[in-house]
Amino acid sequence: MCEDLLVCLFGYGSILWRPGFPYVRKFNAYIKGYKRFFYQGSTDHRGTPESPGRVVTLIKQPEDYINDDWITWGTVYCIPDEEAEIILKNLDYREKGGYQRIETDIFINGKESSHGKAILYFASETNEEFLGEDSMDKIAHQIVRSVGPSGRNLDYLLKLANSLHKMQVEDDHVFELEKLVLELMKQHNIVEHQYLSGAG
Ligand code: BEZ
Repeated sequence: MCEDLLVCLFGYGSILWRPGFPYVRKFNAYIKGYKRFFYQGSTDHRGTPESPGRVVTLIKQPEDYINDDWITWGTVYCIPDEEAEIILKNLDYREKGGYQRIETDIFINGKESSHGKAILYFASETNEEFLGEDSMDKIAHQIVRSVGPSGRNLDYLLKLANSLHKMQVEDDHVFELEKLVLELMKQHNIVEHQYLSGAG
């Protein structure tokens, strides 16, 4: 875990492929009681106010769901204490589209964190840009047609899926969308951009 004098930041979205801040070390971990979904609207990074894209946020486990598989894998970045304030301020600005910082427990291979907590960015279901559930087909179409100041929405999805594949973790929602979006790209002759990396 992060030693004393280091702040832990848990990334589960664009931070996975583009942290954009210095860190001392990183390791993969998961959080319990939340799952990652493409339910947050993006009007400032991967879409526009006229045509919002979709990016990930975390959805809390329903109270009547009793299994313990409602988890989300991500990467914890250990940031020097003295740099944390400016780094978090910059991320607050980058993630201003409905996200807030919360603290949560992190776990590695079933063991509870000795450090206890990590900070993450979370967009609640009550924020203005929240879009919520839709059919996977409609979400895939929305991702394929949306573009914003940080680039194509589909690149965000493919980069996220690629990061999760590299981490060798499961995410049914992201991987199903990846499959649907790749099929749509094939149908419409849309090419993959391997090396683009927009913010957010
Ligand atoms: C993340 O990578 O953890 C993240 C980035 C932006 C918004 C929400 C989450």
